[in-house]
Amino acid sequence: MRGRAGAQGFLHWSNNFDEVQDFEGQIRSLAGGAGLMTNAQFSQGTRSQPLGDKKAGVNSDLDALAAYVASLNTFPSSPLRASGGGLTTAGSAGRTVFISKNCASCHGGTAFTNSASNNPQNIGTLTPESGNRLGSQLTGIDIPTLRDVWATAPYLHNGSAATIENAIQAHAGFTATGTELSDLAAYVAQIGNQETTAPTATASAANTGTGLTGQYFNNTTLSGTPVLQRTEAVNFGRTTNSPGPGVNADQFSVRWSGKVEPTATGKFQFQTVSDNGVRLWINGVLVIDNWTSHATINNSSGTITLTKDQRYLITMEHYDDTGTAVARLRWKKPGQTTYAAIPATRLYSN
Ligand code: HEC
Repeated sequence: MRGRAGAQGFLHWSNNFDEVQDFEGQIRSLAGGAGLMTNAQFSQGTRSQPLGDKKAGVNSDLDALAAYVASLNTFPSSPLRASGGGLTTAGSAGRTVFISKNCASCHGGTAFTNSASNNPQNIGTLTPESGNRLGSQLTGIDIPTLRDVWATAPYLHNGSAATIENAIQAHAGFTATGTELSDLAAYVAQIGNQETTAPTATASAANTGTGLTGQYFNNTTLSGTPVLQRTEAVNFGRTTNSPGPGVNADQFSVRWSGKVEPTATGKFQFQTVSDNGVRLWINGVLVIDNWTSHATINNSSGTITLTKDQRYLITMEHYDDTGTAVARLRWKKPGQTTYAAIPATRLYSN
């Protein structure tokens, strides 16, 4: 708990508590205790649900416990750094690997986690024993901070990784040479409270995208093996043709995934134009959901604050039932009043 201050977005590996006081529910259910509130207080309104009515301000002992946890707001410093306090040679090389693998797209910012944007991520570590989330399927794990990793083995939500190297290798799709991996682990172990913010590629490396990874399926449910994969911007509108070699003219679905890189810092909105179903996630959060057979329609997200040249995870899914198929992905940049297609140079395939 040290350093985490009961903060960093939702709590719990399943990212399902919005206040420390939600442990009242866990004391009652999992631990079989009586809790700190009265039963009447606990069952009032939607308070018994983790994301229901607030539990703060009801019981002074429970609030005192939460205040104590919130006071644990300083991470210990890592003792593994070079004698002068800087990164070791391996740690410094590992920092470069951290940038090139864009670890900050999840373990980002000063907290070394993007948990605050409520984005449980599935990196391939879920097992049947990982449990559920809010009574339904668990789709990902809360992104942990990397500030205390040097002191908190074993790793991952289920303790299945004994070493930092094992934890990094558990991320599906991660590849690196042996030296890169050991350097990266050395860097992660030296973050402590000394590194100020998760490093990312500098702006000079920005604007070099070539599109998202598009995977096409010959069914409307994104099932089975893709019949076509290509890198592209999402901007097609057509009548009744197939969108590409091997893909049905009707009854197909497609998933575009990768990263989007904002051109400015500020409030963005995203918009899809679709016929038929569409859904869009930014950083793991579902922001547009119209998975129905509809005629061509524009759907817009709420405003999302983004930082210039940082890359954010993006996934768009689309299916075509019959007839015309349209799928376009647009954004409205800070200060602008109209939506424009997101260019391929601002979209990355991984
Ligand atoms: C797509 C988001 C994402 C990216 C990118 C990512 N991670 Fe993670 N990372 C996670 C999640 C989610 C977990 C927790 C998984 C679990 O507990 O099962 C995690 C866990 C870890 C852990 C274990 C921490 C602990 O306390 O248990 C380490 C170490 C780690 N990541 C390092 C890295 C490094 C280094 C990179 C870059 C190569 C990276 N991660 C890239 C999402 C990500």
